[in-house]
Amino acid sequence: MPQIDTQKNNSAENEKIQNKEDRKKTWNALVYNKGIKSDEVLDVYKTWASSYQSDMDTVNPKKSEHVAQFAHDLVVADRKNPAELTVLDCAAGTGSVGVELVKYGFKNITATDYCQEMLDKAKERGCYKEFVCCKFGTATPKVLYPRKFDVVVMHGGFAAGHIPLSSLHTMARLCKKGGIVINSMSLQYSHFVDEYMDIHPYVQELAETGVWKVEFTRVLDNCMADRHALVHGFRVL
Ligand SMILES: C[S@@+](CC[C@H](N)C(=O)[O-])C[C@H]1O[C@@H](n2cnc3c(N)ncnc32)[C@H](O)[C@@H]1O
Repeated sequence: MPQIDTQKNNSAENEKIQNKEDRKKTWNALVYNKGIKSDEVLDVYKTWASSYQSDMDTVNPKKSEHVAQFAHDLVVADRKNPAELTVLDCAAGTGSVGVELVKYGFKNITATDYCQEMLDKAKERGCYKEFVCCKFGTATPKVLYPRKFDVVVMHGGFAAGHIPLSSLHTMARLCKKGGIVINSMSLQYSHFVDEYMDIHPYVQELAETGVWKVEFTRVLDNCMADRHALVHGFRVL
């Protein structure tokens, strides 16, 4: 009956609105909480893992593509074949970057993240060869240290309570000389999260001390709704 149909439609619509509100709450509790600690961040991702990907896809299913595209363009300019290179995806989460890397011809990709539940979801996407569950930060994780990757990328690893700024240097140390490091973060965190407010002088300092050459610094508009992405590309020296 039309009456019942309307009620059904209304309750489906209400559920959608409620889900959207819940998503917003989880997201805001995580990213606008300047004081949040790494262990609390981990707890959020453990429970968010099952719906993280679909939540992100409703905002922008292509949000991570630029990371793969930048990596691809830099290695192809070096006349290298992406299929023959090793890649490390830091803070890989549920695998948004990995999926895009595969589309750009990369095949040998390792995912690392400290949330096993997120990595379990990434596994289902079939784009990674290897998974390393460990905390990433200032010191090079022992399980990753002996490996030297051709390309090291990170997308979304920088947010309040997440990965320290110094992990950019760690990424460089995990990369071969001449290799490529790409980092993409929400621009706004470089404005209000203390940890990232010095990102530009930090990047410059590492260039001046011979860690890398800065290949590019870009701001991409509206990568995630009204959020802009701050993207750096480095060549390790
Ligand atoms: C915003 S998500 C980004 C996931 C994925 N790269 C993407 O673009 O969708 C941030 C990820 O960083 C991970 N993370 C946060 N702090 C970490 C740390 N200290 N070490 C390792 N992973 C961390 C979380 O578990 C989560 O999967």
